[in-house]
Amino acid sequence: MRATDIIAKKRDGEELTTEEIRWFVDGYTHNEIPDYQAAAWLTAIYMQGMSRRETFDLTVAMAESGDQLDLSPVIPYAVDKHSTGGVGDKVSLVVLPLVAAAGIPVAKMSGRGLGFTGGTLDKMESIAGYRVQLTEEEFLQQVRDHGIVLCGQTRELAPADGLLYALRDVTATVSSLPLIASSIMSKKLAAGANAIVLDVKVGMGAFMRRVSQARELAQIMVDIGESAGRQMVALLSDMNQPLGCAVGNALEVREAIEALQGGGPLDLREHCLAVGGHMLRLGRQDTSQYALAEAMADLADLMDSGAGFAKFRELVEAQGGDVSMVDDPDRLPQAAIQHDILVPGDGFVAQVNAMMVALACVELGAGRARKTDSIDPAVGVEVHYKVGDQVGAGDVMFTVHADNEDQLERAIAQLEQAPVYDEREQQPLPMFYDTIYND
Ligand code: URA
Repeated sequence: MRATDIIAKKRDGEELTTEEIRWFVDGYTHNEIPDYQAAAWLTAIYMQGMSRRETFDLTVAMAESGDQLDLSPVIPYAVDKHSTGGVGDKVSLVVLPLVAAAGIPVAKMSGRGLGFTGGTLDKMESIAGYRVQLTEEEFLQQVRDHGIVLCGQTRELAPADGLLYALRDVTATVSSLPLIASSIMSKKLAAGANAIVLDVKVGMGAFMRRVSQARELAQIMVDIGESAGRQMVALLSDMNQPLGCAVGNALEVREAIEALQGGGPLDLREHCLAVGGHMLRLGRQDTSQYALAEAMADLADLMDSGAGFAKFRELVEAQGGDVSMVDDPDRLPQAAIQHDILVPGDGFVAQVNAMMVALACVELGAGRARKTDSIDPAVGVEVHYKVGDQVGAGDVMFTVHADNEDQLERAIAQLEQAPVYDEREQQPLPMFYDTIYND
């Protein structure tokens, strides 16, 4: 086979065979196909799209390009979750301990944040001593002993995706549905889950700005997973405004702890119960006997009884974290400056642009502009009102947690663009737009 023939075939809108896709992915992974040809191939895919069969083949080729985890010795039926990335998205921190406390073991490898989205590992690292780098032995032993582990990758999963994603990033080919779907699902398939709950974010602070786009992406991923023998559910959830109130690493850990103890913002609680409820149902396998409402109620009990928090504490302790920070979140890293931004006049909140809040957090140092940037765990933004809330002049809309005046000024400039107020009553935003699964 020749790379130029495969590029030309895709460029001209023809369907590639399974063998051609695998040959290209293998060749690029092993450095036999240069970047310029892979860039041309990605551009051709971006322009022409891919059929479901091609998208599935690309996913499997990337999933099989490196190690594949077999969790079956420690978890007979593994359930995983994945969020496409949101602002204030601390759902994993809440849901994984809850599901584990309900008796379904969870073994999750998470990522770091890049750009405006926060990463679960970055959040957990605001707890002093928490080890995100475990050996495979430690990873498996911890699931056996505690029924929960949350760390970075222990092995090289889907290296082809890592290489192709880096190339997409610099060739304006990220925002292609088949490329996004295959990228996400290749990592999920390689990570060894039997069932996967996808949390596909849609809105101003998400990759997908429109519900129709998000629905299409979700359906492609559900189809890929099911073709690979996985049970799949995808939720389309709102990301026009941040999830919960806290955005920033230590602030989000604090809010996750509140949720695990039965408190915290209601939208976060409801969101976690829905994602966790689907995971629990899939984990119990016999979904016809266990309704979603029942699973959600079981998880709510685990929040309110503190059992979810106890599991989180156990997780932190098992991975070397300082549990005194979990017991007393005032011990988590705190920024030097707390600055309130006030509501200018009486009215209703019509918008809290999640992207502007995220960009303010990047200015503060809570996120990364480049992969190699370090992050500041203490800084971030608290959002005190959500769309639909009634506010009065002088109410505190945002509290900015900054380490210096320079960052604070830049964050304020971003946050000024986040809210829209209206004199008329505003409807709250829906939390979910749809649930996608195949019967
Ligand atoms: N997240 C991924 O892992 N891959 C993409 O292509 C987009 C988001």
